[in-house]
Amino acid sequence: MRASPTQHKYNQIADHFERLIHKNVFKVGSKLPSVRSVSVKYGVNPGTVFQAYYSLESKGLVEAKPKSGYYVRFNRRRLPESTITHTREVPEAGNASEILATMFHNLSFKDFVNFSTASPDMNLLPALKLKKIIHQTLKSGNPGIEYPPLQGSPDLRNQIARICVPWSKDVDPDHIVTTSGCIEALRLCLNAVTQPGDTVAVQHPAYFGFFQLLSSLRLNAVEVNVNDKDFNEEQLMNIVKKFSLKALLLVTNFNNPDGNTLTTAQKKKLVQLVTKMQVPLIEDDVYGDLYFTARRPSTCKSFDKEGWVMYCNSFSKTLAPGYRVGWCLPGRFLDQVIQFKLSTAISGVALTELAIAKFLENGRYDYHLQKMRTALNVQYLRYLRDIIEYFPEKIRISRPAGGFVVWIQLPEGVDACKLYNRAIEFGVLIAPGQIFSFSNRFSNFIRLSFAKAHNENVATALRRVGSILHQMIN
Ligand SMILES: Cc1ncc(COP(=O)(O)O)c(C=O)c1O
Repeated sequence: MRASPTQHKYNQIADHFERLIHKNVFKVGSKLPSVRSVSVKYGVNPGTVFQAYYSLESKGLVEAKPKSGYYVRFNRRRLPESTITHTREVPEAGNASEILATMFHNLSFKDFVNFSTASPDMNLLPALKLKKIIHQTLKSGNPGIEYPPLQGSPDLRNQIARICVPWSKDVDPDHIVTTSGCIEALRLCLNAVTQPGDTVAVQHPAYFGFFQLLSSLRLNAVEVNVNDKDFNEEQLMNIVKKFSLKALLLVTNFNNPDGNTLTTAQKKKLVQLVTKMQVPLIEDDVYGDLYFTARRPSTCKSFDKEGWVMYCNSFSKTLAPGYRVGWCLPGRFLDQVIQFKLSTAISGVALTELAIAKFLENGRYDYHLQKMRTALNVQYLRYLRDIIEYFPEKIRISRPAGGFVVWIQLPEGVDACKLYNRAIEFGVLIAPGQIFSFSNRFSNFIRLSFAKAHNENVATALRRVGSILHQMIN
């Protein structure tokens, strides 16, 4: 017997709601839309909708409440389906974006010991204080409902100028633009000085987000070596000419992943070079406040007299990555950056900008940073001790003076993606070197984050990675 068109319709409606219930769009206890509204939406009579709802009821997915409607009920059979997912292996011959997509998929597994992300552990962040400030802000006369000014909340810009004092006394709040994290600051700066098809220099190794950003803006990248000992001004100048570079994009302090920091002399030379060649330097200083030394490292921006340095930073590594508050000092390109912000974002998020401004205003930032730096330094030393103890002798380890990652060179021929895949079998996530370059240079490197507090689990996980490595080498 063939199903009548009406039967098809009620089945379709029932299937649609069943899928939404399985996906938790309608959670246990929530009410399904009224029979009348569904009948209007599907263009069927109410009887057809009732039939669909009876069908869901017969499967134990919903229950009718007299004079109220249909509600999703708890159903044990739904549970396994909604929780089963699987980790994936990174493609060993894949490109950086394929590897990254798999890594992000695997990040959803909370039981892993995660050394793969360069973001601060929750325990390092002042979550309670921020929560309190958000509550106070919501209750205040300015609860962050209106658009903040295009350039960013004045309170926040004033506070940012204040916290810059350790590296520059000349930061003017009127020259600051707030953004959605450091990544938006970088995007706006690139927008302001490039066109699709242009070429930009990026250091190598570099944060994988740079390659995604450049490719989304349809920009070409040239990798340059600005590592401490390899820094060569003349070579850099030739590259700028040869590729008609439209910008240089560099992390000048505690580069992610290799921890490299340019010396003050190198920074000065770099500013002279970009000023002479009239090519903007986009300086990413997102890790600059997380130093383990006695003093904060300098910035290129502090030597910039003619506005060729576009400085970018955020509170994602030090306060609240989820608030998405960042900022830039675009120098001579201020108007263009503001214009691009208007056309892409209209404004920042008032509530989080106000909350961060309040946090800074209360003078808590310095104290918080001091505590965070000490904790990170201790964690780094403990991780380093375990890496030296458990990993084969043939490896080379970076010695970052800040930030939260170490960069490890494995013996030639050891494939970091293979190591990644072996490590997930033991519940450990690492970051393979392949994602930090677009020319696949770092296949025998890994990056490990030490943002997570050191404990027994961490030590066991490091021991496991070490023993896999011993097996791979022998
Ligand atoms: C060098 C670098 N720049 C920018 C970002 C992104 O920062 P945000 O989360 O503030 O956008 C990261 C994040 O890991 C990073 O390592």
